[in-house]
Formats: sequence, structure tokens, C-alpha cells
Amino acid sequence: MIIAIDGPSGTGKSTVAKGVAKELRFTFFDTGAMYRSLAWWLLSTNVDLDDEDAVAQTLDNFHYEIKSEGQERKYIVNGEDVTHAIRTHEISAAASKIAIYPDVRHTIVKIQRQFGLHGSAVFEGRDMGTVVFPKAEVKIFLTATPECRAKRRYLELVQKFPDQKETFSLSQILQDIQERDEKDTTRAISPLKQASDALLIDTSHLTAEQVIQKITTLAKSKLPNPRRKHFFYFLIYWAARIYFKLFFRLKIHGLEHFRSGAAVIAANHASNLDPPVVSISCPEEVHFLAKDSLFRKPLLGALIRRLNSHPVARDAADAHTFRLILNLLQNGQKIILFPEGQRTENGELQPIERGLPFLVIKARCAIQPVYVQGTFEAWPRGKPLPKFSGKITCVFGSPIEWVEFDHLEKREAEKKIIERMGTTFRALKEWLESGAQGSPP
Ligand code: DC
Repeated sequence: MIIAIDGPSGTGKSTVAKGVAKELRFTFFDTGAMYRSLAWWLLSTNVDLDDEDAVAQTLDNFHYEIKSEGQERKYIVNGEDVTHAIRTHEISAAASKIAIYPDVRHTIVKIQRQFGLHGSAVFEGRDMGTVVFPKAEVKIFLTATPECRAKRRYLELVQKFPDQKETFSLSQILQDIQERDEKDTTRAISPLKQASDALLIDTSHLTAEQVIQKITTLAKSKLPNPRRKHFFYFLIYWAARIYFKLFFRLKIHGLEHFRSGAAVIAANHASNLDPPVVSISCPEEVHFLAKDSLFRKPLLGALIRRLNSHPVARDAADAHTFRLILNLLQNGQKIILFPEGQRTENGELQPIERGLPFLVIKARCAIQPVYVQGTFEAWPRGKPLPKFSGKITCVFGSPIEWVEFDHLEKREAEKKIIERMGTTFRALKEWLESGAQGSPP
């Protein structure tokens, strides 16, 4: 699902978009930051902003990266962190100026649409609902009186740069806002305007929390309920949960991290109990792979098929399985994979293989990490059956979003995903072993 939030500056767009993304566990994109970052790059390379051709010629050299740390974003332009530098008055005016150039818009819109392929996201900007994502499932247009917006911007600036308080003037900000509105609404290409099917919300007399609630309620009413399981799945899900709770005191941590929409659920692999343990720990229906020989066993075959298990001949990288996984992800579903490939021999974590990065790079999807502890002891290798007691724990970590890797070359992305997955498993293990305090990393 894409949620497009448009409107002029000072309507609370960023706060609201971030809040909605947090509430729904969607990815968040501030598209104004892209125009600002480009403006910063042009100013720092002394390009004349009035010279449309000169601006267009620099576009190929503009390398934009977003680094995410939870809800926080860092914007990197050609290797330099510009997160704070792009919030100045000078950059606001420059961004508005260059945003009227068709070549600029074309380049930036292309990048935004690519980000939009990753699944569930909130995009905030000026033309999200009208131009970039005309088919967005939820479209919002925020407004507020210019006076109210100027006051908000003033307070925001004072909070961000308290030592420069004296240099900010409310009337100057109001004038800037009015000028910028004029520019943004009257430009020929992608002017700021409400999409005909967008919901208009005047935020002048609403708190950010009230606006966030309005939008999340609307979005939730349009989302298919992933937590509604089909009857058979529901039945087995609860039977298995009771079994693992009774015999293995199953404990689940970090469900607050469980993201909406498509993702690979990546778990460490210690035993044959991992697929059922991870599946029943997830709050929604998930898919997994199983050896095709299991599907030929009369009762077991029928059972696992109805539990969203898919036959795999060799490994997740064979062409048929690969297509199947991509299809599932494109339909917004989740699939459990074990990036270490084989089960562990000694109960320890193992190196991450190349299958996971290969798939994540192709599908440009998020990874939902999960660390499982206790299954190795519950069903030791070589034993025909699991034990009848033990302690199993499942820990969900913060999702690893595709934006982290989007700017990287394929080989570099592969390396980074492997590295990131390895450190995440180790961090979750450490969190658990050091007493499981607070929320998992
Ligand atoms: O939202 P903001 O103030 O950070 O945006 C900075 C400028 O970028 C704004 O004046 C207009 C431009 N912009 C745009 O033209 N289209 C967008 N989707 C986002 C911002």
C-alpha cells in the first residue's frame, strides 16, 4: 500500500507522515528532502540555479542515498551527510526554484517511483497523489492557514537551532511561505494541488496526533487484514502454539517490530522445529519452503500444503522457487527463509550465504529478522523425534529496509546485506542472553 501525503510546508506533513509510517510500520519518505539535497549540491558546486541547462547537466553527477536508523533518516549527497544542512532558509528557496525544471522533476520522480516498488510506504511531498503515485491507495492533502504554518515553522527552527533564535523572524517566515506557495502552486509542471480523490485535512486546529489517527484509521480500513487467517491455518496455528507453549514454554519478543506488507522473514537455523516455531510466532499468515519429498508423504504433504508451505527441489535459488518467492513478495506476503542455508551443527550461528542477498536484491524487499533460541536443544541433530520439554524463544528484530541498500552496486549490496544480517542475528542473540530488557534491537 502506498499512502501519498501532499500539501504545502508547515502543515505538519513530515511529522504526520512519520507518525503514520510508525503506526503502520511502513517505510517513510520525505520527498522534499530530495529536492533540498539537490539544491544543496548545486549551491555547493556553484551552479547557477537560474541556468536550467547547467542544472540539468549536473543531474547525472547527483548521487543520493538515504540511510535509515529506525524512524530516523540520514541524507547523503555524493558521500556527504546533508541531513541538517538542507533545512536552512537558503536551501528552501533554492529547492523551490529548481523544482520547477522538468529535467529535475523527471530525475527525482523516477527515483521516487523506484522507492515505491518496495511495498508499504508513506510518501510526503507536493505531487505524490497527482503525479508520482496516481494510483496510491490512500491520498491525503493537508492544509493550514499561512499564519499557523509560519508559527509552526518558526517554533521548529527555534527548536532545531536554539543558538540562532534571534535571527529568525516570524513575519519573514510568513512572507517566505507565501512566496513559496505561490511558486509551488503556479508552476507549470506538477504544481502543488489536491488530487481529485484525496482527502482534504485542515490541520490548523488539530494536533499532529489527531491527524495521524485520522489517516491511519483510513489506511487500516483499506488494508486487507493480514492477521485474519484462513480456517485451517488458524486451527493448526493455535494447536501448534498451545503445543509449543505447554511443552517448550514458547516466548515471543519484539512483535512491535513486525512490519506490514512484503518481507523475507530471515531466521537463524538450528533445527527442523524452526519453520513451525517461526510461523506460529508471526502474528499473520506466512509462507515457507519445504523439501519436495515431504509433499509426497500422504498426510503430511496435504497438511503442510494447506499451511502455506511450498515445495522446493534443491534450494531457494532454483529458478522455479525463485519465481514463486518473487510472486509471493509482489503480492505483499511474507516468506520465511534461513539465510545460513543449512542447519547449524553445533547450535552456534553460522555465516550468511548468498541466497538471501540474491533474493532481496531482485525483489528489492525488506528483511524481517528473527532469532530463534532453544530449538537446537529441543530437537538435537540425528534424533528421530523432538524432546518433550525445553525452552524455546523467538525474538523479532527491527526490520531491515531495502532503502539501506538501494544506492549500492549489486556486489556491494550483497556484501552489505550479508554483513547486516550477521550483525543483526548476533545483536538479537546478545540482547536475549543479556536478560531481554526493553525492546529488542
Ligand atoms: O517539503 P519541503 O519544504 O521540504 O520541500 C522543499 C521544496 O521542494 C518545496 O518548495 C517544493 C519542492 N518539492 C516539490 O516540488 N515536490 C515534492 N514532491 C516535494 C518538494
